[in-house]
Amino acid sequence: MFHEANRMKRLPPYLFTIVDNIKREVVAKGIDVIDFSMGNPDLPPPLHVRKALQDAVHVRDRIIHRYSKWDGPIERAFREAIACWYYKRFGVKLDPNSEVLPLIGSKEGIAHLALTYLNSDDLALIPSPSYPVHFNGIIMAGGILYNIPLREENDYLPDLSSLSRETTRLSKLMIVSYPHNPTAATCDLEFYDKLVHWAKDKNIIVASDLAYSDFVFSGKRAPSLLEAKGSRDFCIEFHTCSKSYCMAGWRIGFAVGNREIIASLAKTKSYVDFGIFRAIQIAATKALTGPQDCVEKIVHVYKKRLDFFMDGMTKIGWKMPRPRATFYVWSKIPQKYSGLSSMEFCELLLREAGVAVAPGVGFGEYGEGHIRFALVEPEERMRIAFRRIKKFLEMEV
Ligand SMILES: Cc1ncc(COP(=O)(O)O)c(C=O)c1O
Repeated sequence: MFHEANRMKRLPPYLFTIVDNIKREVVAKGIDVIDFSMGNPDLPPPLHVRKALQDAVHVRDRIIHRYSKWDGPIERAFREAIACWYYKRFGVKLDPNSEVLPLIGSKEGIAHLALTYLNSDDLALIPSPSYPVHFNGIIMAGGILYNIPLREENDYLPDLSSLSRETTRLSKLMIVSYPHNPTAATCDLEFYDKLVHWAKDKNIIVASDLAYSDFVFSGKRAPSLLEAKGSRDFCIEFHTCSKSYCMAGWRIGFAVGNREIIASLAKTKSYVDFGIFRAIQIAATKALTGPQDCVEKIVHVYKKRLDFFMDGMTKIGWKMPRPRATFYVWSKIPQKYSGLSSMEFCELLLREAGVAVAPGVGFGEYGEGHIRFALVEPEERMRIAFRRIKKFLEMEV
């Protein structure tokens, strides 16, 4: 019998794996599952990006297939493209050689940031609910997780005044993420200004996960933490090509920000990976430097889906707040089933209706009582889901 390390035993069960296993059982019974459980984009990456990958693999010379190295021309071009994109997007100038770090997806970078900085007696301040690697990364690194509850009445923003002086003294890292997965909440620059003001002189690294920067529907834009004055002293921000360019399986993202933190994260990574396949870096460079109307088109598809979803769910009697951003819908468990945990409700919905959603508790303690729909199914599949959910809601319990 092999014993996993204690830090692995401290991890909560990965509920998405459990949902996946139930999904497999249901599919094996011949049921066509309509899957809103994972934020796994179903649209193809833009054609010019796919072509760039194809050309890179077929046409370029052999260096494409060798290990990536920091000072290669492809790598330099990618970091410059990131800095340029960032300036255009947020008006923040970055040095591509010291303030930009390509990642094998932002999930990888966030997990390695925790590993880079946390000792076993260091606290990390993590809003709850949140994207799982924000808290699981802390536990895997051996740090101590401190949940800051996000409440609807506070627009799902962390209440910094609730943190005691002792808690902040022991804290080394904090992660925020707006537009927010799973609640779809947003924040404005004023929030980042306040956050930077609060964190300065506390010796806490503040990380922002801006995976959904393009997915804002309210007419406003999602600001970057690095726009806040003084943020460059202790902040880092994570971005991804997974959502805006639908390149989730390609595994490419990047971190930007404080050069000391970037260098330390790069050091950790140099011990565990060899960077990103060069052909993918070329294609991602194309994505960031090419026309951006493809992103608008992708976001428009999700916006239309959101309208369709909200309308359909309202018609079958399931009311929930309309999200302002992301492609998620965060809902309370319907009253009739409020005696069930979010995991029990998800299992029931999946087994009885063939509709998969994510249990709120999978996003941390304060996600309990909720479920999350990821709008990664097209309208015609949603229509089938509405019929099934309606029947499910009418079932005797
Ligand atoms: C908030 C957030 N951050 C990061 C990621 C992962 O992104 P990547 O594919 O770059 O690892 C996700 C994926 O769903 C996410 O929701």
